[in-house]
Amino acid sequence: MPTVSSLGRTAEVDVGTRLVVALESMGIEVGHRCGGKARCTTCRVTFEAGEPAKMTRAEVDKLRDSGLLGSTRLSCQILVDDDMAVTPLMTMETEGWTDPGPPPRARIEPYPTWTTREAANETID
Ligand code: FES
Repeated sequence: MPTVSSLGRTAEVDVGTRLVVALESMGIEVGHRCGGKARCTTCRVTFEAGEPAKMTRAEVDKLRDSGLLGSTRLSCQILVDDDMAVTPLMTMETEGWTDPGPPPRARIEPYPTWTTREAANETID
């Protein structure tokens, strides 16, 4: 099983787990104010290791529209398929929320259309 590391915590998670769900299962209250649908960016993380090349079209579009493409990733749009080390940028603690948002479903929403970072970069202009 792959290992997810974040904020000094480490856990083994099943292959195919959404990263946002993995972080929550580790007790990390990362934001997911849109319920994991690539609409809010509160689930965003930076990668220290294991950043996957593949991205959902919804992630590319949201990060590009928010000016965040290339600097952060949306944990609701990432499936854990290998070891990863990440830092969430918006948590209940840092934002003063009373809850992180509606629970994300186990499957990626919207239904994913996959692309790659390279392909996404070619379509930035
Ligand atoms: S973009 Fe809203 S939870 Fe990921």
